[in-house]
Amino acid sequence: MTSPKNPLPDPAYHAIQGHSPISGPLVGVNICVIGGGFVGLVTAAGFAQFGHKVVCLENDSARLAELQAGRVPFFERDLEELIRNNMHCNRLSFSKDLEEAVDGQEAIFITVGTPPSSSGRADLGALHEVIEVLSRSVQTGQIIVLKSTVPIGTASRVKEILASNGYGDRTVPVVNNPEFLREGTAVYDFFHPQRIVIGGDSPDAIEYVKHIYRLGMTHPVPIVVTNNATAEMIKYASNVFLATKIGFVNELAGLCDQVGVNVLEVAHAMGLDPRIGPDFLNPGPGWGGSCLPKDISEFIGQGQSHGVQLHIARAVVEANHRQFESVVDKVRKLVGELDGKQIGVLGLSFKAGTSDMRGSPTIPIISMLLEAGATIKAFDPAASREAAQLLPMIEITPQASDVAPDSDCIVILTEWPEFQLLDWWSMAERMRHRNLVDCRNLLSPEVAHHYGFKYLSTGQV
Ligand code: UDX
Repeated sequence: MTSPKNPLPDPAYHAIQGHSPISGPLVGVNICVIGGGFVGLVTAAGFAQFGHKVVCLENDSARLAELQAGRVPFFERDLEELIRNNMHCNRLSFSKDLEEAVDGQEAIFITVGTPPSSSGRADLGALHEVIEVLSRSVQTGQIIVLKSTVPIGTASRVKEILASNGYGDRTVPVVNNPEFLREGTAVYDFFHPQRIVIGGDSPDAIEYVKHIYRLGMTHPVPIVVTNNATAEMIKYASNVFLATKIGFVNELAGLCDQVGVNVLEVAHAMGLDPRIGPDFLNPGPGWGGSCLPKDISEFIGQGQSHGVQLHIARAVVEANHRQFESVVDKVRKLVGELDGKQIGVLGLSFKAGTSDMRGSPTIPIISMLLEAGATIKAFDPAASREAAQLLPMIEITPQASDVAPDSDCIVILTEWPEFQLLDWWSMAERMRHRNLVDCRNLLSPEVAHHYGFKYLSTGQV
């Protein structure tokens, strides 16, 4: 285990912008984080880095063993070092026994997954299991913090379950504290949040959660204090808007392709307007991941269950499926009939910087190519293990250049920077036909043509 570097945050911290800091010493508190997934691990290690004493619950024995050995079973930059440093300082530990781990903790953060069920609505099974145990074991004065993305009204139902076991809001408050972490930059995002949202109706509990964050923040961070349902809605609304913004620029790219306009120049000029902003205006093969798809699906479902037709959100989902299809159309435009053709794919994770393939656009796109009779050779710098499980019918190559020999077309699906630095000249020479579909606009038409490629991208001309 590496020796800890800078195990504690700088002693300097800030008064939370716009809020008077609570009185009392700046001391760490005892926190239990339930759920050792992507959000739980970043949250647990981040709180430990602040100076709190954290136990993280993981009920999967294999994953627990990995974590207790200081290993993170997925790729997320800086996370493994952050975990090891704080384990070394005895501020972070892992356990499997929920009742034991909860005992004596002042705050209990729930970070279990809420994946989409077959209906598209959020599956709260894991959350309900945790609440069931907590309703028997939680102690008066503890605070339950829902950090998982949960449908509007979940905190209210959790309070009802606790109340039915004798714990009114007065003794075991329930607070929402949604996360806004992006995979690939989650550790950075944890320490540099755009805002912290805290929803609840117990002022003391809200102040306590503010204290937990205050201990570690070394720069002013806006804190939004609201009620539970509003905090739940803020999370969904934020993610659905991000998907909408990406969907807009993807459709814009489709039009730019047809009228000979470079979408990157348009997006740049649009982003200079602070009302629009530059982020999330990068066109690509479509949006995916473990969050946006499930959150927009739940959002639409919540509208339906309240008789509200969310037309824009529905259109965003439909447009995203068409974006997947547009990638296959571009390959077909270059190679003709797909049956019997070999396609080289660069990038399988849903975005660069992560090994995660949950909800990745690469899965439907590759499936459509296979259904049309193509064979696939693919490479991803981090997602080989996930791809071997999710896409067993394709060949996963050990290095990027191996997708080139005898291929009729190469398709770039994930924006790993290393793909820009490949020896495209030698790759082109080994292909059967020099066709390139650059969904992430990593190259440019000029560069691609220099290597002799017939080149299609997403909105470049
Ligand atoms: C998202 C939200 O950004 C984050 O705030 C929330 O907490 C969790 O969900 P994440 O799922 O990690 O984070 O991915 P994100 O960076 O948002 O990208 C989502 C998808 O949109 C990816 O497939 C990505 O490739 C795509 N994308 C993103 C674009 O195609 N263009 C862009 O400009 C940005």
